[in-house]
Amino acid sequence: MSDVSPNRDQMELWNKASGEAWVDMQVLLDRMLEPFGRLVVDAGYPGEGGQALDIGCGCGATTLAMARRVGAGGRCVGLDISRPLIAAARRRAVAEGIENASFVEGDAQTYALDQGRYDAVISRFGVMFFDDPVAAFANIRRGVRPGAKLTFAAWRSPAENEFMTTAVRAAAPLLPPMPTPNSDAPGQFAFADGSRVTSILEASGWSKVQLHQADVPCRMSEADLMTYATRLGPVGAALRELDRNTAEKVIEALHPAFAPFVEAGYAQFTAACWLAEAWA
Ligand SMILES: C[S@@+](CC[C@H](N)C(=O)[O-])C[C@H]1O[C@@H](n2cnc3c(N)ncnc32)[C@H](O)[C@@H]1O
Repeated sequence: MSDVSPNRDQMELWNKASGEAWVDMQVLLDRMLEPFGRLVVDAGYPGEGGQALDIGCGCGATTLAMARRVGAGGRCVGLDISRPLIAAARRRAVAEGIENASFVEGDAQTYALDQGRYDAVISRFGVMFFDDPVAAFANIRRGVRPGAKLTFAAWRSPAENEFMTTAVRAAAPLLPPMPTPNSDAPGQFAFADGSRVTSILEASGWSKVQLHQADVPCRMSEADLMTYATRLGPVGAALRELDRNTAEKVIEALHPAFAPFVEAGYAQFTAACWLAEAWA
């Protein structure tokens, strides 16, 4: 970790390539991730009039869902490091006429939250990207009142999420060797190891940590599948750099690789995540 500029790589990624892809693919991703949002909002609901904070809120789907749940007397604030995603979330709140949701651009690891303000913290896949997760969860904890609840969803291992790693496996023979990332490094699968997640939460002052395995049936239309496979993750990043000939070969390799998941126009798969709960 750098003392000077925490989360610099992730900030760059989410403000450029990944952020742009998530804004463009908002509808597709929200459709795919909707069941996880429901899990998090149901488990993290602080009651009518509650004050909630949504970490790594992206385009704001869960922030808006929680704002609706807590009602006009409550509020949900979305915090995200990505300017384009925060801008998209704000546009969406206006378009949907939701006045008790607001959005803040900032790094959850360092952002100066109002101390003791929140009754609940939620996140749908927005907490796996910190270079110092203990510092980040300790910072988030400063923003909540005693007894407040933290609820988030984070992916379990790549081996348990075969669908999500299909594109990488199919493209690997056509790409220059990719360095094997440290499994604890910030990224999609950084929280795969449940005992590590529990240690991080306990070390940052959260108590009664509980991790539940959630295996969630998901589906996306075949039309969305290729957008998903070619724009996100390491293959999306590689395709942005590759020459046209190799890029076409990669895309050709993706079709048969995903075929086992496709039936009657839809890709169907089970996604494996943790539903984490802890209390301040
Ligand atoms: C996988 S996306 C999930 C977005 C959103 N929660 C959703 O479910 O649609 C991860 C989000 O975490 C945000 N993020 C990454 N690092 C962050 C940090 N240090 N502080 C705040 N947000 C961060 C990214 O900008 C991105 O919006």
